Amino acid sequence: MKTRIYTIDEKNIDLEIMKEAGAVIAAGGLVGFPTETVYGLGADAMDASASEKIYAAKGRPSDNPLIVHIADLDALKDIALEVPDAVYILAEKYWPGPLTMIMKKGPKVPYKTTGGLDTVAVRMPSNAIALALIKASGTYIAAPSGNLSGRPSPTLASHMIEDMSGRIDMIIDGGKVGIGLESTIVDLTGDVPMILRPGYITKEMLERDLGCVEVDPAIVAGNEDKNFRPKAPGMKYRHYAPKGDLTIVEGQSDDVILCINRLALEQKHAGKKVAIIATDETRHLYDSDFIFSIGSREHEETIAANLFEILRDMDGLSMDVIYSESFAEGHLGQAIMNRLLKAAGHQVIEA
Ligand code: TXA
Ligand code: MG
Repeated sequence: MKTRIYTIDEKNIDLEIMKEAGAVIAAGGLVGFPTETVYGLGADAMDASASEKIYAAKGRPSDNPLIVHIADLDALKDIALEVPDAVYILAEKYWPGPLTMIMKKGPKVPYKTTGGLDTVAVRMPSNAIALALIKASGTYIAAPSGNLSGRPSPTLASHMIEDMSGRIDMIIDGGKVGIGLESTIVDLTGDVPMILRPGYITKEMLERDLGCVEVDPAIVAGNEDKNFRPKAPGMKYRHYAPKGDLTIVEGQSDDVILCINRLALEQKHAGKKVAIIATDETRHLYDSDFIFSIGSREHEETIAANLFEILRDMDGLSMDVIYSESFAEGHLGQAIMNRLLKAAGHQVIEA
């Protein structure tokens, strides 16, 4: 299959191209498109065979449900069996935006879309291209992150092209995404709302609106070996891991720098190609052939936005061994570390 690639300016959207892209979705095809979190791989959420194509293109296990993307609240009547008040409260504040809410599935949503579950994940993205695509399609769009299963989520169209060229009908290049980490997922089907995947919208933010909010114990750092089963099926899979061996080094900044420099030198002497993931504040303190700054600790959003790109670059450069600083602080710390720990297979050392 030849993949058509179009560049679209989010601030000046070419409606002819959106019409063409919408028609691809309506006809059961696949379109890669930008959202504010990561690029998505879209298909008609209400068409079981279209959803099936997503699983095939990604090489994704079929028990891993898809998020249904909508452009207006009216859509909920077609998708959800019942809409809890909490959905309206959170929608008012955070939609369109990087929050996915899980509710009971309505009968029109195929089980292929929900991985066989009686619940459905719904999100209204804020990226104008994503919203225009949903509207142009005349349906709702099931879209996982647009990476091949297991790889880091795409934050640039070039990542989607790398993974999906020849496998899907169209890719819309809308430039680099804003946030760079997938949406927060909150399950609203139980008595107490529960976060199944951390993201830009934090527990504290949700608690302001809903009171008590729990976090799925399976995704809390430190609980890895306790055999909890993640409530979001996708969270149990190995994910984001670069081909090189990635280790996170925690501790006081000075100790971390000393420790990483020592380990990097040992590995270099052993003939390994070694990369260091540092920050703008620390990069000049390292001594190695491959030092990458992931962003600034003063602006943690830059760290989130660059994480997946750096992990992909490690593969492009065939790094054997990678050491990374830890980024657990701040508003985005939990979401960043959730992805980084997965990428490292939970390999962490204390400096
Ligand atoms: O930011 C995002 O959410 C991006 C963009 C494209 O919107 N999408 C995304 O989709 O990250 P994906 O498929 O890569 O991740 C969806 C996660 C998976 O872990 C899946 O298991 C979980 O959501 N999920 C979907 N429906 C669910 C449900 N009904 N119950 C529990 N977990 C669900
Ligand atoms: Mg994904």
